[in-house]
Amino acid sequence: MAILVAVTGWEAGPWVQRLQELAPQRRILETGIDGIFAGNRGDLEEVRYVLAWMPRPELLADLANLQVLFSLGAGVDHILGLPALPEVPIARIVDPDLTARMSEYVVWQVLHHHRQGFAHTRLQAERHWEELRQPAAGEVTVGIMGLGVLGRDAAGILVRLGFHVIGWSRSERAIDGLITYHGKPGLDVFLGQSDILVSLLPLTPATAGLINRSLISRLKRDGPLGGPVLINAGRGGSQVDADIAAALADGTLVGASLDVFEDEPLPPGSPLWGLTNLVITPHVAAVSSPRALARNIIDQITAFESGQPLQNLVDPARGY
Ligand code: NDP
Ligand code: OXD
Repeated sequence: MAILVAVTGWEAGPWVQRLQELAPQRRILETGIDGIFAGNRGDLEEVRYVLAWMPRPELLADLANLQVLFSLGAGVDHILGLPALPEVPIARIVDPDLTARMSEYVVWQVLHHHRQGFAHTRLQAERHWEELRQPAAGEVTVGIMGLGVLGRDAAGILVRLGFHVIGWSRSERAIDGLITYHGKPGLDVFLGQSDILVSLLPLTPATAGLINRSLISRLKRDGPLGGPVLINAGRGGSQVDADIAAALADGTLVGASLDVFEDEPLPPGSPLWGLTNLVITPHVAAVSSPRALARNIIDQITAFESGQPLQNLVDPARGY
């Protein structure tokens, strides 16, 4: 009943160490940071569970006895985008640690724009003392695209801070304290009210390239922040980087915070780097912490082996 940590771009070591602490009786195998398994290929026969971040498709194809594929992130586009999927259940991470990290990021960035972080930094650089007009939170509407585990948690905290919060999802969702919209018919009315647009959408064929020039131009323009603000911590594939750069340069957006990009790492030549009204973070809004999340997966495996249903299963047909 071995576990294989199959990761590209991440170090497997901290996951292996934590898994071994929690399940000392289990055999834990790992790939290198390049996603390649350099161990004895015969050992792959023992693998029942894979914990994956951008796994190599040929490695998954070699696992004859795989029973469950766990995504090491909340997002599963890195798995569902593979050319072929093993015919096993796919579960994703839903965990209070990851959710709290994302809400922290969203609140940090909403407050940065709401409290005019860029303007204050500029005034400080100029050694200039000036009191800027500060709207109340209740004057600002935050529109959250994606009312899943992460979107709902962030929304609840923003409501408690006094913001007017609205949401948009694929299907109809009734959530206390929020006015919600859904689907294509709900999108324009949602955008037209949003002073700060926060995207916590998964990357699917339906969300690819959604945050483009056309969508940005439909955001509320006459709000208290002097124009609309964009925050994307979902997936870079949902945005068009060049359209965002152009909108920030010509004032269609007054500010933005991007944690995710079409190409990651963001290439040094990207015009986004030079924009002074943009906060860039390197896909760290909610990192997957082995210390917190390995227990979540070991608990799932233990429950699964005692006959209980797996939690947080992904629907490949739906795309998330
Ligand atoms: P969930 O699956 O719980 O929620 C997804 C939400 O998006 C749902 O409300 C869903 O609608 C909505 N949605 C999906 N497709 C569409 C669509 N076509 N139109 C409108 N709404 C849509 O995901 P989580 O909240 O757990 O995570 C969201 C995403 O955050 C992840 O997929 C991942 O990409 C990203 N992420 C980024 C991290 C980072 O560090 N930057 C860290 C963790 C996650 P409905 O409710 O109708 O199903
Ligand atoms: C995730 C991520 O999906 O870190 O969890 O992007």
